[in-house]
Amino acid sequence: MVGGSVPVFDEIILSTSLMNQVISFDPVAGILVCQAGCILEQLNQYVEERDFIMPLDLGAKGSCHIGGNVATNAGGLRLLRYGSLRGTVLGLEVVLADGLVLDCLTSLRKDNTGYDLKQLFIGSEGTLGIITAISILCPQKPKAVNLAFLGCPGFSEVLKTFTTCKGMLGEILSAYEFMDNRCMQLVENHLRLSNPVTENPFYVLIETSGSNAGHDEEKLNNFLERVMGSGLVTDGTVATDNMKMKMLWALRERITEALSCDGYVYKYDISLPVEKLYDIVLDMRSRLGQSAKSVVGYGHVGDGNLHLNVTAKSYSSSLLKAIEPYVYEWTARHHGSVSAEHGLGFKKKDFIGYSKPREAILLMQQFKGMLDPKGILNPYKTLPSSSC
Ligand code: LAC
Ligand code: ZN
Repeated sequence: MVGGSVPVFDEIILSTSLMNQVISFDPVAGILVCQAGCILEQLNQYVEERDFIMPLDLGAKGSCHIGGNVATNAGGLRLLRYGSLRGTVLGLEVVLADGLVLDCLTSLRKDNTGYDLKQLFIGSEGTLGIITAISILCPQKPKAVNLAFLGCPGFSEVLKTFTTCKGMLGEILSAYEFMDNRCMQLVENHLRLSNPVTENPFYVLIETSGSNAGHDEEKLNNFLERVMGSGLVTDGTVATDNMKMKMLWALRERITEALSCDGYVYKYDISLPVEKLYDIVLDMRSRLGQSAKSVVGYGHVGDGNLHLNVTAKSYSSSLLKAIEPYVYEWTARHHGSVSAEHGLGFKKKDFIGYSKPREAILLMQQFKGMLDPKGILNPYKTLPSSSC
């Protein structure tokens, strides 16, 4: 997404693929300890067999490593319910730049002994140390999962549906995602997926995960009656069986893939106050006019996280200049973040100043200098090239 794992000049690539063993699993506490090269989907299968699930889920689950997930502090589709890895990761083993192995692989829920060093490595994109093992808290596997895919006539209806949803589904709500109609057209045209509801300007995907199928279904039905009756939602479909749920999730999860079939993609991953979330898409669409092929917005409404993507036939520096730094200025003006969940990597490192004060960047540079004085860990990434 931001070139965080892409070698650009003279780097050596380290692979953790063979470090793919589960070390232990505590079936009472639901705490999994595993090596960094384990694939997220396989870990999810492992813990599901023991009646738990991984606290994170994302489109790339079939290939991404848990070590990379932690190093980038990946967000994804379940963050709304289970929180970020900053809360669910309990311990880490990290190899430092000088070869020292930092063993902070504890499995304690509470441990206020000194500074919480693992937080430095979560989301550091491999620039401060190499994560080799993880201890992570897994939630109990929900007994009942329901999915609703709904069409909304406008973005304000997407937000009002969210508020209604929180009020009526509360404790069982596990995901609230949205996509605009242009995203739907792209997954239909490029991936041949079909839209199960009538065409609408926006679509939302709502997942509930609870412990009682009957109660959950009743709650969901009451909610659906309310939002359809009040015109917040114009059409929808629900799923409880695995096949249909997978099919509905694919519409949302495969947007990134559909975008890459559309041409060159300019990707932005921003946090904004939720009521402003879609304004930037409309603004960008009118700003870029015919010079862009598609300007789309989708993402994790529940987390205030928008994925704004612009596609064009091919890369053009004039189009890039029309988007940046405008998009970052817009985001900073609304007190948002220029990288919500994808990190800064190589592409966004020089824009950190739009979201962090000078003093914070300086302190980050000091940490980097102390932990990696020779600059050998994922060089050229995350921190700005020149001092701010
Ligand atoms: C998603 C990725 C792009 O949410 O973060 O689909
Ligand atoms: Zn995302």
